Amino acid sequence: SWDMASFVETAVADIRRRVGGERVICALSGGVDSSVAALLIHRAIGRNLTCIFVNNGLLRKNEAETVLAFFEQSELDVRYVDASARFLERLSGVDDPEKKRKIIGTEFIRVFEEEARRLGDVRFLAQGTLYPDVIESVSFKGPSATIKSHHNVGGLPEVMRLELVEPLRELFKDEVREVGAQLGMPEELIHRHPFPGPGLAIRVLGAVTPERLAVLREADAIVLEEMKASGWYRRTWQAFAVLLPVRTVGVMGDERTYDHVVALRVVDSVDAMTADWTRLPYDLLARISNRIINEVRGVNRVCYDVSSKPPATIEWE
Ligand code: XMP
Repeated sequence: SWDMASFVETAVADIRRRVGGERVICALSGGVDSSVAALLIHRAIGRNLTCIFVNNGLLRKNEAETVLAFFEQSELDVRYVDASARFLERLSGVDDPEKKRKIIGTEFIRVFEEEARRLGDVRFLAQGTLYPDVIESVSFKGPSATIKSHHNVGGLPEVMRLELVEPLRELFKDEVREVGAQLGMPEELIHRHPFPGPGLAIRVLGAVTPERLAVLREADAIVLEEMKASGWYRRTWQAFAVLLPVRTVGVMGDERTYDHVVALRVVDSVDAMTADWTRLPYDLLARISNRIINEVRGVNRVCYDVSSKPPATIEWE
């Protein structure tokens, strides 16, 4: 729209004026907000923006590849850091959700700072903060909020001394999506559901192991595939699989099985503050369930979560 076209023009001019010839870094999560912020700043200052994409080993199936493929052809300077092993090592044996979050947040800062230090004199840190994040005292944003919450918790990480560039501060989500379209972002990225910074770690209930992550990744990929194929993905706020820490009895051929349970969580929401479970058609639920049970080894049961928020939350941890 005209509004967002003129927003892009003004924002680009503002960024140029503010940043001049200095270096800006940003943490790219592949989410809509950080991606649009990066594209906008790139349009303003080109290669003086460096983006850091940290693979924490907790991403969904093919996620890192998809995000990197897009940014590679968009000419941004993106540094890919595969820190999976570090994150998984620190998470080993941890089953408390808040401990998981803290470990992941702290480790993220460490990795990010190591990369930032490598770049030398960086003056600015770009973040995809939106208007609702500005007005809410506690907000969960991917890597950026990890930085904020870490800041509140204690010691001042080096990156906190950087000056913030937050070009989306006055926008709502739908406006950010329009800006993304203006900047040539593919539909696939523009309409991505929110994905939490701690990633699959808070969807593998209980201890996180590479094996359990692999099971969840496969189940989750089926959920997303079927949601997209049926047109329901765009109609919902979030849709994902959760791996439960229980096993149940089943039967396969003449064999008794004793395997994992996957819960499906699909919700409607406008801002994640409240949410209602999505009334998906039974045949879609059946297809998702059959595919998960037939295709994902180690899963013999699928449940649909019919709780609204409040009192339940969107995530299970
Ligand atoms: P809940 O589970 O609190 O989630 O209803 C509300 C929204 O926030 C996301 N979420 C997080 N995002 N770090 C994030 O970046 C987190 O620790 C976190 N916990 C929940 C959740 O996916 C939903 O969109």
